[in-house]
Amino acid sequence: MNKLFLYGPPASGKTTVGQALAKALGVKFVDTDQLICQAEGCNISEIFATRGEAGFREVETRALEEACAIEEKCVVALGGGTLLKDSNRELAEKSGAVICIDSPDDKVLEERILAGEVVRPLGNKAKERAPHYASFPIRLARYFMLEDSLVLAGSGLAPAIVCGEKLVTDENVLKHHPELVSGTVFAMPSGEEHKTPDTIIKMWSAFAQAGLGRRDRVTAIGGGVTGDMTGFAAATWMRGIDWINVPTTLLSMVDASTGGKTGCDLPEGKNLAGAFHSPKLVVIDTDFLSTLPPEVMRCGLAEMIKHWAIGGKQEFSGTVPNAKEIAENLSVKVEIVREDPFEKLGRRMLLNCGHTIGHAVEKESGYRLSHGEAVAIGCVEEARLAVRLGLSRDAWVEELKRTFEQAGLPTGLPEGMTLESLRAIMRGDKKRAGDTVTFTLPCGWGDVRAVKLDLGKELP
Ligand SMILES: NC(=O)c1ccc[n+]([C@@H]2O[C@H](COP(=O)([O-])OP(=O)(O)OC[C@H]3O[C@@H](n4cnc5c(N)ncnc54)[C@H](O)[C@@H]3O)[C@@H](O)[C@H]2O)c1
Ligand SMILES: [Zn+2]
Repeated sequence: MNKLFLYGPPASGKTTVGQALAKALGVKFVDTDQLICQAEGCNISEIFATRGEAGFREVETRALEEACAIEEKCVVALGGGTLLKDSNRELAEKSGAVICIDSPDDKVLEERILAGEVVRPLGNKAKERAPHYASFPIRLARYFMLEDSLVLAGSGLAPAIVCGEKLVTDENVLKHHPELVSGTVFAMPSGEEHKTPDTIIKMWSAFAQAGLGRRDRVTAIGGGVTGDMTGFAAATWMRGIDWINVPTTLLSMVDASTGGKTGCDLPEGKNLAGAFHSPKLVVIDTDFLSTLPPEVMRCGLAEMIKHWAIGGKQEFSGTVPNAKEIAENLSVKVEIVREDPFEKLGRRMLLNCGHTIGHAVEKESGYRLSHGEAVAIGCVEEARLAVRLGLSRDAWVEELKRTFEQAGLPTGLPEGMTLESLRAIMRGDKKRAGDTVTFTLPCGWGDVRAVKLDLGKELP
């Protein structure tokens, strides 16, 4: 049961993802098409031409058997019709987990062809075999390859991929997934109040007790707090070990999971101690969302809407987003992080949209408002600011407001809170230079603009 099989229609990316996943996990990669070519001494179209499909299927079965007989853990890319035969499917499912990759949509396929990842256009086999592919429960909807990490988004992925890994979990996640207990080396007490150096010290002690060495790695399974903390503990354990991130909240799926920022809070402020340390692998598994409390879900929706302001509005059913919608939303951050991985070029400033006022609102409320609620309010207030500066129109503020309200989020400053009362907090904002503060104002869907404003003069 130690194989990870990648399966799916032609051009879905089985070899590309397979190679990247094997590299991220530090295991061997096997491609059954290659095994066939090596064994037969010719390429696949020649086998089809000389022996027909039936002849090809015979050698294909032998290649699958050969891959399943390998003793060590490995990632195996299968040909697009290998598991049509029931006995082959049984053998694969007995030997490990079958991850079926969805057909890429035209836009994604075009990107992959341009990137040289695939050469073949999708044949009509994909349509013909759609019910067959749909019958596999573990799905990979989309993947991204960043400089130093592979991001997978789908459903049912996590149990298959992190089986046997050393886990840092969140106590709420553990409650819903008791099967994770045996792999857990440290269970994070839940909540931002535990995002402290004290918890990091406890995590290091747990690493020591688990005998984690220089070449070991650790896997975070939890929300943004668990991911940020585990990443930071991994960055500093023995001067840096690899880690895998399995985000379990919507916010951590669309936002905190990528970009490499890790850290913890200090009494003096949030996220003050930290390091850039990207996980080698991010596994977004939407199955975790089924246990997420609605107020935590709403926090993620706030960041999703923020991404729409940056990258353009996306189709969304309005309830719990599926893996494709999450990946599409995450792609806004992925593109920005690709251009500015260490926040040196100012591109990442775009992600701060709605957050300058949002952070001040969150703090001024004494953290009674959640981050997502404060971001919703911050985005709307910053959109109003854009209108006042002549950068947008009233209709945009109304539309943005409506969108947040449909997601169940507040959009007005709480009683007694005014921009005036937030000014002092914004003066202490990290992005400050003199009395000017850089805002990233939402001006329309897909239109955010960074503007420097003098807090004393230009803020009403
Ligand atoms: N690294 C980054 O780039 C980045 C970006 C944005 C936010 N963050 C950080 O992320 C944190 C916020 O993340 P968050 O909103 O995920 O908070 P969180 O990790 O505190 O999770 C929120 C709550 O949901 C619970 N939970 C998590 N998964 C669950 C599940 N599947 N089912 C039931 N309950 C579950 C947790 O126990 C917790 O009570 C902040 O500390 C913030 O600074 C980091
Ligand atoms: Zn945020």
